[in-house]
Amino acid sequence: MRLRSKLFLTISLLIVFILAFVALSLLTMERQFLTRETDKRQEAALENTVGIVREAHITWDPILMVNYLKLIAQAHPEIGWLCIVDTEGKIQAGLDMSLLGIERTQISPPEKVRLLSRTVSSNGVTLGSVEVGFDKDRMESYLQASLSKVRERITIIGLCALVLGFIGSFLLAQSLSGPIRVLSMVAGEIGKGELDTPVPTVNRRDELGDLSRSFQEMAGHLKELDRMKQDFVAGTTHELRSPLGIIESHANAVLSDLGEVKGIPENYRTDWTSSMTHIKNSSLRLNRFISDLLNMAKIERKRLDLNFQEVSFSKIIDEVLLSFAPKARERKIVLFKQVSQNLPLVSADPERIHQVLVNLTGNALKFTPAGGKITVGARVQQQGWIYITVTDTGPGISAEFRSRIFSKFEQAKGLSGREGERGTGLGLAICKGIVEGHGGKVGVESRAGQGSEFYFTIPIQRFLRGENK
Ligand SMILES: Nc1ncnc2c1ncn2[C@@H]1O[C@H](COP(=O)(O)OP(=O)(O)O)[C@@H](O)[C@H]1O
Ligand SMILES: [Mg+2]
Repeated sequence: MRLRSKLFLTISLLIVFILAFVALSLLTMERQFLTRETDKRQEAALENTVGIVREAHITWDPILMVNYLKLIAQAHPEIGWLCIVDTEGKIQAGLDMSLLGIERTQISPPEKVRLLSRTVSSNGVTLGSVEVGFDKDRMESYLQASLSKVRERITIIGLCALVLGFIGSFLLAQSLSGPIRVLSMVAGEIGKGELDTPVPTVNRRDELGDLSRSFQEMAGHLKELDRMKQDFVAGTTHELRSPLGIIESHANAVLSDLGEVKGIPENYRTDWTSSMTHIKNSSLRLNRFISDLLNMAKIERKRLDLNFQEVSFSKIIDEVLLSFAPKARERKIVLFKQVSQNLPLVSADPERIHQVLVNLTGNALKFTPAGGKITVGARVQQQGWIYITVTDTGPGISAEFRSRIFSKFEQAKGLSGREGERGTGLGLAICKGIVEGHGGKVGVESRAGQGSEFYFTIPIQRFLRGENK
């Protein structure tokens, strides 16, 4: 789950819990409050009745008394039973006139009534007692009615708070995870070697701001280190070249002298010739490696100067295949050319394209076993692109390795080509640099054991600088 969703869910859940807790507490408190209020009201009703009885006793008038009681019952609709009992235990007055004069003990008030009674006395003389019964059902329904109003209000307020809380938690999650996501994306790019990726500034005074600032510093240091490394490589390889050239030319001179000078014993002549040939071949290999390193350094510093011309890919493929023909024959590998007719001229650097094709074809030849077949093809792809393929019947390349193959110094383990042909692992990286310099793309399709197909595309019309980025 993404950090943003996690934060959002956690905060939202917290809000829901808190709101539910607050709402429940409010409802419970409101219920307790209402119950207390009802008790007070009932107590007051009883007191009223007692007062009336006390006063009515002076001017004893049962009809007046009944009228009073009715008034009280009207004021308190929850009263379900009301009677006044005299000192002899007989009902003196009540809401139900038919009960007058009857012994109180002989009848029972309706069920579900909360009965409150009080003795009425005046100046120390007991006058009788008052009984008020409150209907429990009615009380409960009053309570529920009031509570449901409260519940409604709590629900409305709670929903508003919930919506605001959701919006707030979404914004908070977004503002926390946004910079982290951007930084992690940039870290990924830098990790892939794209050191020029700009690190966005996070304008905050918290840890995220600190993180972005440290990150910027780190990226700056890395870039500086990389530049130093590239300068070093470019400088030293350049310096290595001239002594190598001298070694090579002197080896050549000694080799040709060895053939002509007389009087050298034959066994010495063979030994020296073999040593000199080793020296010459080694310096040639070193020279190739240095060229690769220099090319790579140029590509990395974006200083690969391309000399754009109208180029016939068919002609370049012919040249490359011709140069590999002897080696292929020796290996018993067939070379094929598969170029569609009316292939247009392409604006490109012929020498660099030649270099790419030599690299790809050289690899194919290096890794394909005897009896195999290598096809170099070119055709027009829709929308003004030319599509070049180099297909072999070699061992193929595993999916896991395919993604790294165009990086510098990547070579498959256990697949180092033939003796004496150990490469540097720079060939494909240089191909990629050259093709991308033209605005095109490189790639490889392969199934292990069934050969590989390397391809690259080049726009037929030269793109303006920057347009294809
Ligand atoms: N046609 C191919 N078939 C199988 N593996 C290949 C092929 N071309 C390249 N590779 C793999 O990719 C690696 C990198 O190639 P490259 O960059 O040209 O370096 P090098 O040829 O110097 O080893 C090779 O070492 C090899 O493991
Ligand atoms: Mg190679």
